[in-house]
Amino acid sequence: MGATQEELYSGLDLDLSWSERDLPERERTKHVHRLHPYLGKYIPQLVEELFRRHVPSRGRVLDPFAGSGTTLVQALESGLDSTGVDIAAFNCLLMRVKTADHNPFVLERELRDVLARFAAGEGRVTGRTAYLRRWFAPQAQDDLLRFRSLLADYEHADVLRVVLARAARSARLTSHFDLDFPREPQTEPYWCHKHKRECRPVERAEHFVRRYTLDTLARLKEFGRVRQKRTVSVLHADAREAALDGEFDAVVTSPPYPGLIDYHEQHRYAYELLGLEDLRSHEIGAAAGGTTKRATAAYVEGVADVLHACRGVLRPRGRVVIVVNDRRDLYPEILERSELVLEQRYQRHVNRRTGRRTGEYFEDVLVARRP
Ligand SMILES: C[S@@+](CC[C@H](N)C(=O)[O-])C[C@H]1O[C@@H](n2cnc3c(N)ncnc32)[C@H](O)[C@@H]1O
Repeated sequence: MGATQEELYSGLDLDLSWSERDLPERERTKHVHRLHPYLGKYIPQLVEELFRRHVPSRGRVLDPFAGSGTTLVQALESGLDSTGVDIAAFNCLLMRVKTADHNPFVLERELRDVLARFAAGEGRVTGRTAYLRRWFAPQAQDDLLRFRSLLADYEHADVLRVVLARAARSARLTSHFDLDFPREPQTEPYWCHKHKRECRPVERAEHFVRRYTLDTLARLKEFGRVRQKRTVSVLHADAREAALDGEFDAVVTSPPYPGLIDYHEQHRYAYELLGLEDLRSHEIGAAAGGTTKRATAAYVEGVADVLHACRGVLRPRGRVVIVVNDRRDLYPEILERSELVLEQRYQRHVNRRTGRRTGEYFEDVLVARRP
């Protein structure tokens, strides 16, 4: 038996509720955490503190919903081994690029070389698709396709793929205030709510390619100075059936929320440009599925199956730490189905002052173990 709700609910955990002043955006998005936008991630400082509380030093941690790789990146910084699983191929590419042990000299030489060739007009424009024609101005299409044609020549091609995706995201025909899920291309000048003036849709991508290549180089080098030599493994798989090897000291994760975000769709441009495998039908809780009774039941079953699989590779004293905003109170059932018991529950106050999705809310951290 786990503890009762009252015993568990120790109130707000102030140590996990940072204000914007304590923890400004540049700290939350330090080094590789800002290599590419990703909607729905948690912050590295939270993960760091959860590791300190629940993972033995030099231990091994698993994140079955690894997303943009916050757990894995922090594991490297905290001196832990880690494995991350994600169903979305782009997320796995991003995680691999963030966590790889890049040789800084080769990286710098290659990134500067590709930029010089790109600036000199090298590269071919091939493979224009209907998606590209619809979502990018003609010059932006040319810039992106030309850069793409140069990537394969480099050892760090995956780093350049992430740069290409980031440049494509910025160069889409969207308004500045609708970068997350634009529905229709923005082809005419428009009144911009973000900048409070008339803005024009982007026409070129060349400047983004240059800016993001240099930014990526700086961020990877910065992370290279703080990452420890630990092992990292990224699995592109459905976490219900991922082939996990060995045992883990802890699971630290933030599962998708039901009906909130389509994790493939938010990076659609990357799938289109990079030809990545699309496994969206395996996404648990996808927004496209909505929040009907049936979709919610499928969500509960899906997350429970994942946690149950994690339980099978957890060391006997290991903990499963789940960061979730359980507005629908689904996690008591999910834990029961996973054959896990709740041991502790912290509530944290999230106060987001930047970005379009500003606002305050509460988030739970559930700490569970085997009965
Ligand atoms: C809330 S996000 C995790 C974000 C992560 N904590 C971070 O900081 O980047 C949930 C992730 O679960 C992934 N996901 C959804 N269904 C999955 C499945 N069946 N197997 C593995 N991953 C899945 C999504 O692709 C998404 O990246």
